[in-house]
Amino acid sequence: MADKKNILITGGAGFIGSHVIRLFVNSYPDYQIYNLDSLTYAGNLENLKDLEGKQNYTFIKADITDQDLMHRVFNENGITDVIHLAAESHVDRSIADPTAFIYTNVIGTVNLLNAARKQWEGKLDQHLFYHVSTDEVYGSLDNGGYFLETTPYDPQSPYSASKASSDHFVRAFANTYKLRTVISNCSNNYGPNQFPEKLIPLCIHNIKHNKPLPVYGKGENVRDWLFVIDHARAIDVVFHKGKDNETYNIGGFNEWKNIDIVRTLCKVMDKKMGRPEGESEKLITFVKDRAGHDLRYAIDANKIMKELGWEPSLQFEEGLEKTVDWYLANEEWLQRVTSGAYQDYYDKQYS
Ligand code: NAD
Ligand code: DAU
Repeated sequence: MADKKNILITGGAGFIGSHVIRLFVNSYPDYQIYNLDSLTYAGNLENLKDLEGKQNYTFIKADITDQDLMHRVFNENGITDVIHLAAESHVDRSIADPTAFIYTNVIGTVNLLNAARKQWEGKLDQHLFYHVSTDEVYGSLDNGGYFLETTPYDPQSPYSASKASSDHFVRAFANTYKLRTVISNCSNNYGPNQFPEKLIPLCIHNIKHNKPLPVYGKGENVRDWLFVIDHARAIDVVFHKGKDNETYNIGGFNEWKNIDIVRTLCKVMDKKMGRPEGESEKLITFVKDRAGHDLRYAIDANKIMKELGWEPSLQFEEGLEKTVDWYLANEEWLQRVTSGAYQDYYDKQYS
């Protein structure tokens, strides 16, 4: 890789991106970190207030669907490497309207690949395009087995179809143009700064405000949860130690049924809020299932653990408690992001 790094991290104002940006800016003072984000409803610069004024951090407000602008950003800033996280990320929104997912997740990714290829022409071996993807590209599991890096793609929602498509384009650019790439596919993240349309922050917010906790179907669907900072640490490891054009699955070996997560959150919140035990559970409301709802995701993370030496640092109970504490201490953040456009989305989704 190039000696002096000017790393473009896309989607850095979002949930996972903000933790990746913080880790890179603080751990690598010699790298210049460029955070490119168009600040959709999910992007929030407040997530990175602590980095304002840092010498090695620059924010660029730009939309990855704008091809010309991407070429300019690469050229003007001498971008040497990319960690690409910008995406439309919420499955329910993709079901309500898939179009934005195709523009951002597919076309936006191809625009970045094109810009990288042009900028790095003649020295492709010195630069890396790291694409951050999801375990949802592998489809849905029954009660047994795990997703391996070799599991055939079988995306089931418009969101996962768009992410699968972007993964294919990254591999196609590696094969056709010899761009150096790496892809990681991670399981469900949780932690501070997650937009409260996702299960865990939505439930924390609703428990606090005594609102119904909408559990889709019977709550039997299973997800494999990883604390967001552990995902950011894994991205650091893959960026620095991952082998060219490889794929790494990232996960916590931490499977939970949705209903069990919601019940656990109720218990934690009852304690934190001084409510009688069992009080918050009364808010659980079974609602209409998500269309085409994937039953189970489970990542086999042995490759990254054995080959690159990464492992999760937090137990789930500890991570969940930290997450609840963060949301309780950041009520203003929550108030701001749940007003306006979010309220309209919420009313439509759960009416
Ligand atoms: P997020 O929705 O919280 O953040 C996405 C960010 O991308 C936002 O800051 C948004 O403003 C920005 N963005 C969206 N469209 C853009 C565009 N056209 N141009 C520039 N910026 C744009 O998402 P997240 O949960 O942090 O996920 C980040 C990445 O990680 C995504 O690629 C997602 O597919 C992947 N991922 C997420 C999870 C998870 O559990 N959240 C798990 C595995 C993989
Ligand atoms: O697996 C990785 C993926 O995890 C990421 O690629 C996605 O970007 C991320 O959003 C997440 O997708 P999920 O659909 O699994 O996350 P979500 O928090 O939306 O839902 C988790 C589970 O909880 C899922 O089975 C649906 C269910 N659910 C969700 C919501 C929002 C409910 O039962 N009620 C709800 O209100």
